[in-house]
Amino acid sequence: MPTPDLLDAEKEHSLVLVKPDGFARGLTGEVLRRIEAKGYVLKGLKIKKANEELLGEHYVEHKEKHFFKDLVEYMSSGPVVAIVVEGDRVIEGVRSLMGNTNPTLAAPGTIRGDLGRDWGTGNVENIVHGSDSPLSAAREIALWFPELTYKES
Ligand code: RTP
Ligand code: MG
Repeated sequence: MPTPDLLDAEKEHSLVLVKPDGFARGLTGEVLRRIEAKGYVLKGLKIKKANEELLGEHYVEHKEKHFFKDLVEYMSSGPVVAIVVEGDRVIEGVRSLMGNTNPTLAAPGTIRGDLGRDWGTGNVENIVHGSDSPLSAAREIALWFPELTYKES
């Protein structure tokens, strides 16, 4: 078995997903480019087809929302790219790079604003996910990267 990679527990991390629409449109490189150009460091990267169980845990806060079923359908419609990103204030920084949840309204200059739109599917297809708090980030990294463990520095 390969030795698990280690994350520095002293540093801030965010779990980023290139969602199925972003992956299918060939935008993975563009999302990674913007994250790296901003100065953040990639600590984990994988392509994964998420199942309902994983997505149910990932979006547990939305379980009772009217859009939950459609959200799980959208997020399991194809592979996603899961990324662990590291850097000071990276959680806020990635959210700022992503822009507004609704890609029609997201500001130009952001990933969702520059690359996203409403495709008339009824789903909010918005290319990218980023953790919204340190607690969510730790929970999401454990879900998507169980092989990544924290080292004490
Ligand atoms: P994410 O969790 O994916 O990073 O997006 P977010 O924080 O910007 O937005 P959030 O409120 O957490 O919603 C999660 C995802 O659910 C879809 N959504 N659909 N139909 C709707 O009203 C609706 N609202 C949200 C979007 O794909 C959103 O990113
Ligand atoms: Mg969210």
